[in-house]
Amino acid sequence: GWKKLQCLFFLFCFCVQNVAGRSFGIDYDSNCFVKDGKPFRYISGSIHYSRVPSYYWKDQYFLQLANDTGLLVILRAGPYICAEWDMGGLPAWLLEKKSVVLRSSDSDYLEAVERWMSVLLPKMRPYLYQNGGPIIMVQVENEYGSYFACDYNYLRFLLKLFRLHLGDEVVLFTTDGASQFHLKCGALQGLYATVDFAPGGNVTAAFLAQRNSEPKGPLVNSEFYTGWLDHWGHRHSVVPAQTIAKTLNEILACGANVNLYMFIGGTNFAYWNGANMPYMPQPTSYDYDAPLSEAGDLTEKYFALREVIGMYKQLPEGLIPPTTPKFAYGKVCLQKASTVLEVLDGLSPSGPVRSTYPLTFVELKQYFGYVLYRTTLPKNCVEPTPLSSPLNGVHDRAYVSVNGVPQGILERDKSLKINITGQAGANLDILVENMGRVNFGRYNNDFKGLVSNLTLAQDILVGWEIYPLDIDGAVNSDFFYLLDHPKRSAVKALSYEVPAFYTGTLSIPGGIPDLPQDTYVNFPGWTKGQIWINGFNLGRYWPARGPQLTLYVPRNVLVASVPNNITVLELERSPCSTQACEIEFVDEPNINATLQHETDKPPLFVRELSMKHL
Ligand SMILES: *[C@@H]1O[C@H](CO)[C@@H](O)[C@H](O)[C@H]1NC(C)=O
Ligand SMILES: *[C@@H]1O[C@H](CO)[C@@H](O)[C@H](O)[C@H]1NC(C)=O
Ligand SMILES: *[C@@H]1O[C@H](CO)[C@@H](O)[C@H](O)[C@H]1NC(C)=O
Ligand SMILES: *[C@@H]1O[C@H](CO)[C@@H](O)[C@H](O)[C@H]1NC(C)=O
Ligand SMILES: *[C@@H]1O[C@H](CO)[C@@H](O)[C@H](O)[C@H]1NC(C)=O
Ligand SMILES: *[C@@H]1O[C@H](CO)[C@@H](O)[C@H](O)[C@H]1NC(C)=O
Repeated sequence: GWKKLQCLFFLFCFCVQNVAGRSFGIDYDSNCFVKDGKPFRYISGSIHYSRVPSYYWKDQYFLQLANDTGLLVILRAGPYICAEWDMGGLPAWLLEKKSVVLRSSDSDYLEAVERWMSVLLPKMRPYLYQNGGPIIMVQVENEYGSYFACDYNYLRFLLKLFRLHLGDEVVLFTTDGASQFHLKCGALQGLYATVDFAPGGNVTAAFLAQRNSEPKGPLVNSEFYTGWLDHWGHRHSVVPAQTIAKTLNEILACGANVNLYMFIGGTNFAYWNGANMPYMPQPTSYDYDAPLSEAGDLTEKYFALREVIGMYKQLPEGLIPPTTPKFAYGKVCLQKASTVLEVLDGLSPSGPVRSTYPLTFVELKQYFGYVLYRTTLPKNCVEPTPLSSPLNGVHDRAYVSVNGVPQGILERDKSLKINITGQAGANLDILVENMGRVNFGRYNNDFKGLVSNLTLAQDILVGWEIYPLDIDGAVNSDFFYLLDHPKRSAVKALSYEVPAFYTGTLSIPGGIPDLPQDTYVNFPGWTKGQIWINGFNLGRYWPARGPQLTLYVPRNVLVASVPNNITVLELERSPCSTQACEIEFVDEPNINATLQHETDKPPLFVRELSMKHL
């Protein structure tokens, strides 16, 4: 982080700060920004502080650190940010009003936005450039022209709210896809309209789209894609450095301003990843194939872009901070601690909520993670009997068992029906995983859990006991370490096992200087689940689907003085009954596994941008 910010430093190095009479604005006649009375152009990069451990951005508030480092800040304040973040950065509790129209003049939505911005924006005000801080511009909303609502009153409301809290001087702007279509509903008088576009396209045409909305003023690409996002089950996105260097050169040759999205991508720790539609959740790594890797390491792309920038701006002198060391701590044996069902009461201190029909996560006021839905079989199912979700209402993945015997998996958009067997009165347990809320487009109102009824053969299942699960709370109180390990009979190698917890410890070796260091954890033979180290939720692993195989473990999660406690929740099938019951800490990431893909996809930008921008 410190290092990362220094790496960013050169991008801003031309900003010689003039302490007296600080000002930042737009010179429409000269088509440029003007800072302290002088023409100004920025070449900048994106970082999401929430995707980089605070350990790596120095031990203080983020904006203060940026200023101390000599960086300027372009603040993209939301309320909606997209960013492949859960629900695009909007909090899930907004869905407590089922019919809420997000990102519109819906009164409950506006009330929530007003409450949030009335806390956030006053904190930002002292950090505005003209007030002595680093923030030169503030973005309002995000790619609003790609959203169906097209509600100008909503944008006007935001404009008024931002002005109220930030004053009249600060440059407020919008960002939209580079076409008249997107700018139509995304741009608003009083907010400076900028565009975003990918490398490889026609830069002149893209900026002509901006000129349609802003006949004069600086040209700005607010999201110049240095790479692209990933989805579980799809190929890892890779965009060649030369392609990006070439288009960056063209952008800078136009005299335009640019923000490299991302400069460092970082990690979707815990449950924070978003998803696209048709439902495709993003993996834990947000590496993005960016110029700095997920762990902040220098890449070939970093140097290629630095060289291009050096043709337009003087690069700072001195050494580039080196890549941080990584350490291969090796294999760690895990032990099965318990199944989810065996410790249900411990995981759900509040006990079950009873309901005739299933309730959603939001109705239970649990927003992330896992909820267990239990009912009993209303009749004997001696023959395989279809359990189905006719309205595709499993959001997003359900692990089904009858009296502790695994039956299979239901998955949103993918698996709507399985066969089950069991006796009348047996417990039917359905552990439902929220795999991340849709972050883009009209499907943002993404309810989780069982959002419609399940049927057994023709009958709607009723009489549910619904257990909200506080797994993170249990992990944090060392719950699984304090369990008596029950004697268990040898497990048969089934295609599915019931979801279960495994524990183990990693001791950092002595006698080696500068440990702990960053590492990556690999899951040989494991299928899908979640991992915590010392209570820190590192995120989801899913080597069975890929492309990400290893998870990034930042050093600040590890301690050298005592053994590090590892908890793994395996949802489908562990290797423990057939091979070694272990995970492995390695010194290189693998987020680019070659897998069997569901279908052959058209090339990257055609596919993703048409999805994103239509
Ligand atoms: C930010 O840095 C500038 C110098 O670059 C300094 O004058 C100013 O006081 C700093 N502002 C804050 C809020 O620390
Ligand atoms: C790029 O777009 C401009 C403006 O629309 C057009 O004049 C030019 O021919 C295009 N260049 C290429 C290579 O297509
Ligand atoms: C369920 O079982 C029936 C009868 O054995 C079989 O025909 C059908 O293919 C099975 N369906 C699924 C989804 O496995
Ligand atoms: C389940 O079915 C009942 C009866 O048809 C209906 O009233 C209820 O709204 C349904 N619940 C959900 C969550 O779809
Ligand atoms: C690991 O768990 C044990 C309880 O079994 C606890 O005493 C210890 O402090 C934990 N270690 C760390 C590093 O949190
Ligand atoms: C990812 O894998 C593909 C196919 O094996 C390979 O062509 C590509 O170079 C790899 N990319 C990276 C960044 O490792």
